[in-house]
Amino acid sequence: MKISIMTLFPEMCNAVLGESIIGRAREKGIIEIEAVNIRDYTTDRHNNVDDATYGGGMGMLMQAQPIYDCYKAISEKSKSDKPHLIYMSPQGKTLTQQRVKELSELDEIVILCGHYEGVDERVLEEIVDEEISVGDYVLTGGELPALMLADAVARMIDGVLPNDEAKSLESHYDGLLEYPQYTRPFEWHGKEVPEVLISGHHENIDKWRRQQSLKRTFERRPDMLEKAELTKKDLEYLETLRKAELWDAYDKDFALIPGLTLERGKRIPDGVFHLVCDIIVQHTDGTYLLMQRDKRKHFGGMWEATAGGSALMGESPAQCAKRELCEETGIISDSLTEVGRVVNSDNRSIYVEFYCRTDCDKQSIVLQDGETSAFKWVSAQELISMKKDELVTERMQNFVDELKV
Ligand SMILES: C[S@@+](CC[C@H](N)C(=O)[O-])C[C@H]1O[C@@H](n2cnc3c(N)ncnc32)[C@H](O)[C@@H]1O
Repeated sequence: MKISIMTLFPEMCNAVLGESIIGRAREKGIIEIEAVNIRDYTTDRHNNVDDATYGGGMGMLMQAQPIYDCYKAISEKSKSDKPHLIYMSPQGKTLTQQRVKELSELDEIVILCGHYEGVDERVLEEIVDEEISVGDYVLTGGELPALMLADAVARMIDGVLPNDEAKSLESHYDGLLEYPQYTRPFEWHGKEVPEVLISGHHENIDKWRRQQSLKRTFERRPDMLEKAELTKKDLEYLETLRKAELWDAYDKDFALIPGLTLERGKRIPDGVFHLVCDIIVQHTDGTYLLMQRDKRKHFGGMWEATAGGSALMGESPAQCAKRELCEETGIISDSLTEVGRVVNSDNRSIYVEFYCRTDCDKQSIVLQDGETSAFKWVSAQELISMKKDELVTERMQNFVDELKV
């Protein structure tokens, strides 16, 4: 592929395009990129390329003739009769990965960089095929936008990237944002790499990456989901994300408030509460399950004596408890017993506490990635005597004390 950049500042383009991945691809002849100086085509004896605007106003405008002649010279050397000419302009269509992919399939593109107040409209009408913007803001010249476009197009050409597969995994390629990535060391500033990534279990890693990708896009660019190609599993996962954002509203007596829906992260009105379920897990041998909070979370490193979390919209306390227990420990239980309720006005939550007695294999606990990073089983006495700075909440100590089991 060949990219010609028509500019008044060719050195600016060459400096950038001579470096790194694009520089190496040019050296190897995988892609040809040239910066052509528009000033070389001026017929003005002072080599001027710009003039004042008709009708008055501040600033200078690039003249039609040097641009036209420059493009004609490029066209004469081209295999095509009319190489595709793109004018970088804040008035153009915003550049997308989809358009980058399409442009990379052409044999040749020419990019025109404006400067000053822009370009005489008549030459744009006559030779430009499309106008592309790099965003809703204005730069002093088209060189940086042209370099962005040339870089994005070049990296789509086979052989430009060291690993061609990489381009199909990055943000925007398949209509989603990319999942978070980590490199050595395993722990940095107290933050550990998610366990699943060092498990060596490729299926689980792929699943985790896909879900993170969906989650990021859902949280940061929900507009992109409308166009992305999604599988049935993707849609199911997105549905759980959507539901997790919406909560039912209750009054202090735990009566549902009809017609009022709460949204995670948004302020809960005075006198209104949302439902949270906590499940304390006791093994038939008498020990209790404790889970250590992931270091990246609030209260990271402290122990929790419960599984649990906020109920999704439409969920009863029992349904919420069953789902949370399964998500956070891997235990599937239909015999959860409600053991108490606590209304917390400070964080506008009604906590419904459940007790789960299980004879599961004690080592079979499956922790939820990103939530907890370790577990242990402790006796009732050990749990009750745990210190304030070890346990996230003391609420469960009181329950265990009351249960006297
Ligand atoms: C100061 S701008 C001219 C803006 C023009 N007067 C307007 O209001 O549309 C000078 C040049 O920078 C380039 N440019 C500025 N912002 C851009 C953007 N967001 N995307 C692409 N090119 C841009 C264009 O080539 C433009 O001709």
